[in-house]
Amino acid sequence: MAKAKETEQKLIKSRKRVRDHGEVFTPDWLVRDMCDLVAAQCADVGTRFLEPACGDGNFLVEILRRKLAAARALVGGRTDTARFRREAFRALTSLYGIDILPDNVSACRANLLRTWAAAHNAKLRRGARWAGCEQSARFVLEWNILHGNTLKPDGSEETPAVVFVEWQWTDDVVCGTEERLSALLQEADADSLFSVRDCGNVIGPLPYWMLGGELPAPERSAPAEPPMPPKLRRFEGGMAEIRADQSLQFLLAL
Ligand SMILES: C[S@@+](CC[C@H](N)C(=O)[O-])C[C@H]1O[C@@H](n2cnc3c(N)ncnc32)[C@H](O)[C@@H]1O
Repeated sequence: MAKAKETEQKLIKSRKRVRDHGEVFTPDWLVRDMCDLVAAQCADVGTRFLEPACGDGNFLVEILRRKLAAARALVGGRTDTARFRREAFRALTSLYGIDILPDNVSACRANLLRTWAAAHNAKLRRGARWAGCEQSARFVLEWNILHGNTLKPDGSEETPAVVFVEWQWTDDVVCGTEERLSALLQEADADSLFSVRDCGNVIGPLPYWMLGGELPAPERSAPAEPPMPPKLRRFEGGMAEIRADQSLQFLLAL
């Protein structure tokens, strides 16, 4: 019955959008079934996902819900603790999306923000700290959910280059490193998309609730440039990569 009702979900906005961009949304029941295929990764707050054609975020919202449930479980079911707030924020920073249509990008950001905010109880949603968190969440979403063409990651006349930020956490402090998608794809192997590299930190280190207050929103009108040669950070033993269990999962929903 629930399934039947959901098939009435509006999956198409206009015939023109279907023709021009293949925009047909996946019904909620199918989103849940597909997320079940990577249930363990969805239930891990830190595992990163990239939705290369994110639409209004139906996959990313479902994954965020599961990650928020995992964050709640980490703190014994409570949503009124500083630890829950941090884990919930970390969950948000782990989700990435690209869409070619700007209105879908805005809708995706708004849907993720609403889902994230709703997971906090009244106690956490008060005061200056909450205001800082909310502003920082908007800031992160502007970096993580991008207008772009996944098939032309270096940009074109119509779409900007796709440049993500990799967020690295140490307790409450976050540091963001700019990462060009085309360079990431050139290097990617099956287990790791974000390599540990040293392209210069563009954000932080800052407490996560201060991210949005310190810096202007990203400027995304840069012309297309050739991909930067990847610079890998050197450790004593040579080059290092983020472990496979932190790898970026692809959700190909096209
Ligand atoms: C079939 S819909 C899927 C939307 C969502 N992933 C879902 O499953 O409901 C395809 C989406 O991809 C976007 N899109 C089409 N071509 C794209 C491209 N080259 N790069 C990024 N997004 C693209 C469309 O705007 C649309 O939102």
